[in-house]
Amino acid sequence: MNAIARQVARRRTFAIVSHPDAGKTTLTEKLLLLGGAIHVAGTVKARKAARYATSDWMEIEKQRGISVASSVMQFEYRGHVINLLDTPGHQDFSEDTYRVLTAVDAAVMVIDAAKGVEPQTLKLLEVCRARGTPVLTFVNKLDRDVRPPLELLDEIESALGMAAAPLTWPIGSGREFSGVLDLRTGERRRMRSPAHQEALEEAEMVREAATRFESAQYLAGLQTPVLFGSALNDFGVKEVLDALVDHAPAPASRRGGTREVAPDEGIFSGVVFKIQANMDPAHRDRVAFVRVCSGRFTRGMKLVICRSGRELRSSNAVTFLSQRRETADEAYAGDIIGIPNHGTIALGDTLTEGEPLQFGGLPSFAPELFRRVELATPMKAKQLRTGLRQLSEEGAIQIFTPHAGGAPVLAAVGALQFDVAAHRLEHEYGVQMRLLGAEYTVARWVSCPEAPELDRFFARNAHRIFHDAAGVPAYLAATTAELTVTQKYWPKIAFHRTREHTGLAQEAAA
Ligand code: G4P
Repeated sequence: MNAIARQVARRRTFAIVSHPDAGKTTLTEKLLLLGGAIHVAGTVKARKAARYATSDWMEIEKQRGISVASSVMQFEYRGHVINLLDTPGHQDFSEDTYRVLTAVDAAVMVIDAAKGVEPQTLKLLEVCRARGTPVLTFVNKLDRDVRPPLELLDEIESALGMAAAPLTWPIGSGREFSGVLDLRTGERRRMRSPAHQEALEEAEMVREAATRFESAQYLAGLQTPVLFGSALNDFGVKEVLDALVDHAPAPASRRGGTREVAPDEGIFSGVVFKIQANMDPAHRDRVAFVRVCSGRFTRGMKLVICRSGRELRSSNAVTFLSQRRETADEAYAGDIIGIPNHGTIALGDTLTEGEPLQFGGLPSFAPELFRRVELATPMKAKQLRTGLRQLSEEGAIQIFTPHAGGAPVLAAVGALQFDVAAHRLEHEYGVQMRLLGAEYTVARWVSCPEAPELDRFFARNAHRIFHDAAGVPAYLAATTAELTVTQKYWPKIAFHRTREHTGLAQEAAA
């Protein structure tokens, strides 16, 4: 194995998905403590409190600078390099979460044992399933009165559409929760004593009957290993990290457009999955988060943005290895680097040492919320255009410009995105405006292999056709019924719910 392959093999890059309050923050904190990335309990918790104390997006806004630093947490554990990618807690920013999920090799699903699998988790899991990302399940809060574990296991199986293979089994729950039984070794790990005989017997029974963990099934996304514990009591957390190290996949090959790119090949490549505006509104600099796909990144190396062919010096790149600053100047497949820039890098961009590659798979989701913009000061039209373009390049908001000309329509997946956009347009671009209701509720990107048919479709539906920031055409409808009728009437036109950011081709995807 060469030096790069050795580095790749010891990488584990994952994100935690959960419904709010299931315990993601608590688990993250315990994992970081375990990995030595933080030393004081409450560090992550405090950050979350600051970020989400209210549903006030102003708070989120204030924390933007902090969240750049905390959005990737890297630490070493058992000789492995662990990259834990943070995802926004608020569902209005779920599009950001979807994009983060494209940059990980594995996911940990946290569920509250009293509640089971909740809606927000399901949506995120769909993204994992679509990408074949292996999912490990942590059933949390066993120290509380919870639902019967067997029932939870059933629910996980039907909700995820994959077999659930418990690695551990709780011995009792709530006040009677005394620990877990390792179903593979038969070893008992005690949180407190004594264990009730009945609970012990149940655990032993499950040991005989439960679905056995099969690594290949897990890696293929057909099975989820399940661990039980209590993040708050730091019980079962180490098992999560051990399972990730033992079973989660190291970075694998990715399709780079024209060819398959192996993680351990000598030449650097990476893909931008997130753009984050920095704190200082005066500078408008942004950090592009790049998932390294192959090769070895060293600070200062020259990189090429494949979409534009522009060259980039990476001397001010940010890496995230929290403890060992001296090695923070290099990165391998699975690692994340942050590259400050002034808008030269866009979502979905591929960076290489020169080879024109293009990684795909970064989705935009059809928005469901739409607003029209009314400028308070018409003089600021140019600033508005610039601001909207940049916000849409970051993925903070989507914009749709009418095919027939006229003012653009703002679109979002979550309502808070509009508040953030309005706030930032005012503070960063000096644009004051009002957001008014728009008549649309549905958007679909459209395509058709026959260009004349597409032209006919545009001509006949001119008032409903828009172009997104990348120029891809979309059909906006007032109701789903309207969309259905149009689809029936135009069978040759394909209507897409998602669009891939491919940087180069900007093709709509099915
Ligand atoms: P989230 O990031 O998924 O939204 O959840 P978070 O970790 O913030 O946890 C949500 C609540 O659940 C917190 O309580 C947290 O302390 C609690 N919690 C997390 N893990 C466990 C567990 O294993 N057992 C029990 N009993 N509770 C757990 P809170 O009251 O909202 O916050 P705090 O005042 O306790 O900090």
